[in-house]
Formats: sequence, structure tokens, C-alpha cells
Amino acid sequence: MRFQTPRGTKDILPEEQIYWHLIESTATKMAKSYGYSKIDTPIFEDTDLFSRSVGDSTDILEKETYTFVDRGGDSLTLRPEGTASVARAYVQNGMHNQPQPIKLYYIFQNFRYERPQAGRYRAFNQFGVEAFGESDHYIDSEIIELAWRFLIALGINDLVLSINSIGCIDCRPEYTSNLKSYYSNHRNSICNDCDRRVDKNPLRLLDCKNDPCQSIISDAPKSVKYLCKNCETHFIAIKTNLDLLHIPFHIDNCLVRGLDYYSKTVFEIAPPTSGRTSVIAGGGRYDGLIEQIGGSYTPGIGFAMGIERIIDNLKRLNIPIEKKDPKCILLAYMGEISKTHAIKIASLIRQSGGSAVLGPSRGLKSQMKYASSIDASYVVIIGDQEIEKGVYKIKNLSTSEQIEISIDKAVDYLLNIWDL
Ligand code: HAM
Repeated sequence: MRFQTPRGTKDILPEEQIYWHLIESTATKMAKSYGYSKIDTPIFEDTDLFSRSVGDSTDILEKETYTFVDRGGDSLTLRPEGTASVARAYVQNGMHNQPQPIKLYYIFQNFRYERPQAGRYRAFNQFGVEAFGESDHYIDSEIIELAWRFLIALGINDLVLSINSIGCIDCRPEYTSNLKSYYSNHRNSICNDCDRRVDKNPLRLLDCKNDPCQSIISDAPKSVKYLCKNCETHFIAIKTNLDLLHIPFHIDNCLVRGLDYYSKTVFEIAPPTSGRTSVIAGGGRYDGLIEQIGGSYTPGIGFAMGIERIIDNLKRLNIPIEKKDPKCILLAYMGEISKTHAIKIASLIRQSGGSAVLGPSRGLKSQMKYASSIDASYVVIIGDQEIEKGVYKIKNLSTSEQIEISIDKAVDYLLNIWDL
């Protein structure tokens, strides 16, 4: 029997790790520079947490969650996104008692039972940030700026930022009721999904990508026309801030996002020719979320971006990634006595902070081949004759230069490679 990764999942092999390292280190640096601290949460949560936050009538909850009953009879769900878990952690750990806003970032894996295709996986990773306890518009534009500057820092500089406001609990009901009555006149011409959405999740009607619905969407009422004074002022201020920060944006009145917790600001960042599976970053404000999951009223806002999609874009733009693997030396030996030398030298080097690998237990030729396959910088050749002479041979693999060095000076000589 040959096992394969489950459908929609993939291994991240050593040669791909340079991308992951670059993204994680840039994300960490960038999040910290905006005052965010790292948080991790369990990979699964009570199923109810996601019903209350992401929403029962969203695609995610209706058909994409990995839900199971554990041996104690509790219904648990693999995290399909990070916001609900981080919000739960905020409430559970009493973070509302600390000075606000609380700013948190995460880099972790999520799970959605989606139809796999390019850029869409069942196990995927996100870099996300969440800020709790600040309702002012400055944080909306600051969070958008963070997402934008992070992608620019990676060299992905041809992206399009779309923003919209979907209103708040005060103004949205009037909007959705108008949207519903507009759609009630078009029920025969819309797709089956939209037919269900009219009653269950009307905002998502604007997000439909099916052909028959496109002309209906273009004439549908848009949320910006229904914003209350507060939401309107908030949205105008964000646009002013983005201009101030020289962040180009496009207003997309059909942008609604696929999760129920959003209010006011929503935004997405995508490559110029974009389909749903190419959106890199999505986020928005969620002022009602903390109350929905049992906390007291706390405004919130955040975004998340798919790391696999960031990597696709680094590759799309041929952005060179600097390989910064630490130098490593290989200890090649011939016979049992020289192997004991190799074992000892390798251990001494590692204890002093260097990186050493023993050659495989095959002939010298195989060991030299292995040295280049692991990108070793130097090979120390330890043979019986050398030991008798009291020396080791050291070969620099990039210059092919070879020297002999006395055994008692070898470790110090090698540690100089790392400036140790
Ligand atoms: P989302 O739009 O569902 O939002 O996901 C954000 C990003 O995660 C997407 O733009 C995409 O890059 C990536 N992503 C989502 N699903 C997949 C998938 N199946 N395969 C690969 N990448 C995927 C959220 O998750 C919200 N929690 C964002 C947020 C944070 N809003 C406020 N705070």
C-alpha cells in the first residue's frame, strides 16, 4: 500500500522552506513594527464557536468544516480560520482588562473542505492580525497599510486593494431588506445558490460569480448608499487616510466577504487579474463579534492572508529568494578509528554553535557526493594515514582548496568558518 497526502493537502519539502522562512520572518518583523504580539491557539475548537462567529449560513460552515465528535461526546471543529479562535482567546484570557487595543498576530494552519484547485487547499496557512478594542478609523487604515506594506516588502508590488463598507447593525437591516426585495423580482433568473442566499445570507448575493447573476448584481442596491452617518464618516476617513499613506485603492461596492462577522470596513488584496482563488488577503472590521461569542461589546478588526498564495505570487513574479542556509561541514571518515574521531569532532563543533554532519557509512566517494548534495561548505577528511601523521585534511568545497591541519588545531580552525 502506498500512502499519499490527503486530497487538497501538500508536503512542504526542504527546497520550499526558503519561501516559508522568508514569509514568516518578514511577517514577524512587520507585525511587531506595528505593535502586534504573537498568539497561537489550539487547532480545534468547540464547533459552536464557529457557528456563532463565521456564521451557520456561510459556505464555510455549511459545507467546508472538518467537524467530529470526540470520545467524550463533544463536537469539535478543525479551525477553518483564525479570527474566531483569537477572539475566543481574547475573551477567555480576560484581555479586555488590559489597556486597549490588544493587537495580536498569528501564523498558523487552517482547514476547509473545499474543492481543491490551484491556490485552494484543504489544509492551508495564514498570516493574520487582529486588533481588539479600538473603534477609531485610524486602525482600519493602519491594518490595511500593514497588509499592503508586508506584500510590498516581499516584492509583490502589482496588487490591487479593494475596499468597501457594508454598514453596521444600525444601517445594514434597511440595506438588506432593500436587497432582498430587489432580488425577489429576479428569483427566476438567478442561480440556485443565489436563490438560497436571498433568505439566508443576502449580502453574499453580490459575491456570486455565476454568469446569469452578473447583470442582476450590477443593478442591485449597494450598501454604501445606505450607510448611517457614523459608517459614512468612518468610511470617508479611511479613504482619506489611505490617500495620506499613498496606498492606492479601488472601491468595490460588491465586495462583501464570505464570513458573517463583518461590519463597516471590508477589504481584499489580489493580483491584477483576479478570480476567487487568487485573493491573497482579506479582512475587515467585526465590531459585533466579541459580543456574539459571549464577551462584552468590543470593536475589532483584522485580516488574514494565505501563505501558499503569497508563495504563488513570489513565483509568478520570479522574485529571487536569497538562500541563507547556515554553513555546514561534513566529516568524512574511513574505518572505525577515524569514525570515532569524526563523531567526536562533530559533537565539539555542534556544542560550540557550528553545524556538522557525519558522512554516510559508505566509501569516501559517496561521502563526498553526499557533501555536495547537502550543500556542505567544507569536508574534513579523516583517514588512518592522516591520523597516524596527527593531521586531518580539510577541503573547501567552493574553491576546491585542500589543506592539512594538526588534529589539536582542527576544531578551532573549523569554528572560524562561523566566526565562533
Ligand atoms: P478569508 O477570506 O476566508 O478570511 O481568508 C483569508 C485568506 O486566506 C484568503 O484571501 C486566502 O489567501 C487564504 N485562504 C482562504 N481559504 C484558502 C484555501 N482553501 N486555500 C488556500 N488559501 C486560502 C479569513 O479567513 C478571515 N479570518 C480574515 C480576517 C481576519 N478578517 C478579519 N480578521
